[in-house]
Amino acid sequence: MVPRRSFRPFSAMPGRLFSALLAGSLLAAAPALTAQSARLVAVDQHLMVNADSGSTPWWKHAVIYEIYPRSFQDSNGDGIGDLNGITQRLDYLQSLGIDAIWISPCYPSPQVDFGYDISDYEKIDPQYGTLADFDRWVAEAKKHNIRIIMDMVMNHTSDKHPWFVQSAASRTNPKADWYVWRDPKGYTADGKPIPPNNWISGFGGSAWQWSPERKQFYYHEFYRQQPDLNWRNPEVEKAMFDTVRFWLDRGVAGFRFDAIPTLFEDEALRDEPALGGTNAQGDPNLSDIYTNNLPEVHDVMRRLRKVADSYPGDRVLIGETYLNSAADLNKWYGGAHHDELQLPMDMQVGFLNRLDAATFRTRITDAETKIDGNQPLFVFDNHDNRRSWDRYGDGIHNQQIARILATLLFTTRSTALMYYGEELGMVTSTPTRKQDVKDPIGITGWPREKGRDGERTPMQWDNSKDAGFSTADKTWLPIPDNYTTVNVKTEQADPASLLRWHGQLIAMRRQNPALHDGEITMLDENNPDVLAYVRHTPGSPAVVVAVNCSGEARTVHLSLASLGISASTAKTLLTDAPELDKAISLGDVTLPAYASWVASVQ
Ligand code: NOJ
Repeated sequence: MVPRRSFRPFSAMPGRLFSALLAGSLLAAAPALTAQSARLVAVDQHLMVNADSGSTPWWKHAVIYEIYPRSFQDSNGDGIGDLNGITQRLDYLQSLGIDAIWISPCYPSPQVDFGYDISDYEKIDPQYGTLADFDRWVAEAKKHNIRIIMDMVMNHTSDKHPWFVQSAASRTNPKADWYVWRDPKGYTADGKPIPPNNWISGFGGSAWQWSPERKQFYYHEFYRQQPDLNWRNPEVEKAMFDTVRFWLDRGVAGFRFDAIPTLFEDEALRDEPALGGTNAQGDPNLSDIYTNNLPEVHDVMRRLRKVADSYPGDRVLIGETYLNSAADLNKWYGGAHHDELQLPMDMQVGFLNRLDAATFRTRITDAETKIDGNQPLFVFDNHDNRRSWDRYGDGIHNQQIARILATLLFTTRSTALMYYGEELGMVTSTPTRKQDVKDPIGITGWPREKGRDGERTPMQWDNSKDAGFSTADKTWLPIPDNYTTVNVKTEQADPASLLRWHGQLIAMRRQNPALHDGEITMLDENNPDVLAYVRHTPGSPAVVVAVNCSGEARTVHLSLASLGISASTAKTLLTDAPELDKAISLGDVTLPAYASWVASVQ
């Protein structure tokens, strides 16, 4: 059983180690990292975006880029990012080579959970802009061959949403049953109502909040300002699906569904079994068998998929699915029926949180073999977890380690999901004083849980005031100190930068047939330190990928004979190891510590 922490369930695991043509604009400013990779500059991205025609849906080969709107680009000088700001930065995003943006919630919200508490599902929060700004952004993005994916929060609303305000007003109003209301279990000797059961909010404290008006408790998986909707009421499903249609009609390419496994709770409200010990908020660790991943949710997913499929253009449904195995994940695709979400997130690979070649190999193989031919979606970073730079880095080799992670993200067969700033090596900048914390869980949980501000700091564009993010005297979260060197402008000019590495990998994945579409076969499968695989497709040269996850030089045995490939040499396409920047004889290949190597088999 897993402790219930659905917002960032892996952050407390012991595995936490230490603390273009636009391809041209990104790649052409200086010579590329290796002579070979420089040829990538010639890739015509515009043509390739449209290369997936016919029956292959666009999202199968996509690179999806998550934007946290408060932190990407401020266009009006209030210190908070906005939609017009994102529109201004579309050239950059196109030059990086992305196919779609997933924007974290930008709807009207009291911003208790920075947008994940929605008070109106069919408008834009004034601090981010207007519906007209939104429409202009979608249209401009389309001109840049970039699609827009909305974040859809169906588990809960804000307590300021008119639905909840009405629901809370009486036990008899038309929306009385839209949320999860229950009578108290009883009253204490001094007259205090006792919650119906032992359920704990993922954000700390009892998951039950007393309503003096109704003299009942309501259930909230997250903050008390985020009451859970009652998905056993068909009117709730209809209202939510209507909002989904509202945005699909407006031209969005799909949705990322927030906390989707938590839609249903046990009807009998059974107590969750205790697991022993306490979590960072000081609450008992509980199982989540009665509040997470209940089977009823899959009927909703199948109906939701029908809504998406009724629209043209391969609209995609992505799920925030922190699950423990590929088998569990497979249920979210609808298994062999392929009739639920197209891309539930695989958190097993990206949130392993330790550089462990053998476990990466097992988990990537699981994603290939245990999901009934569905398409994996890998992700290493998001707005809820310390940045991968810090989760995987050892404090000394973080650049190389970040290149390894990017290599895995873009050269495996998975759809790739990345988070703004990951391409720069932005670090987690956790507040050092409680009075500076913005994320409520960091205030209630201080000092064990310092909240998520650290992974949400403003995008670092250049070394000017506010890192080019804003002109405000004070930005909503501070600009990290390293912005003078870790920023887009500086890294665009540096052929060895992490940004250039990302741009090269993304362009290669688009251009090279084996990387674009090929099968993946693991190589040297018992090697404990080097993860190696080959991507291969008939009629095109195979591509070998090897990453050394250890701090010592390591040899990997590369034999392709079992695949019927008799070639004896490989031509390096991209590497950060100068000694591998040449034609390499296959067989035993030695990689320096933490090196990444991608090569085309001759
Ligand atoms: C998951 C989101 O990613 C997180 O930021 C949010 O706080 C919770 N769901 C609640 O909506």
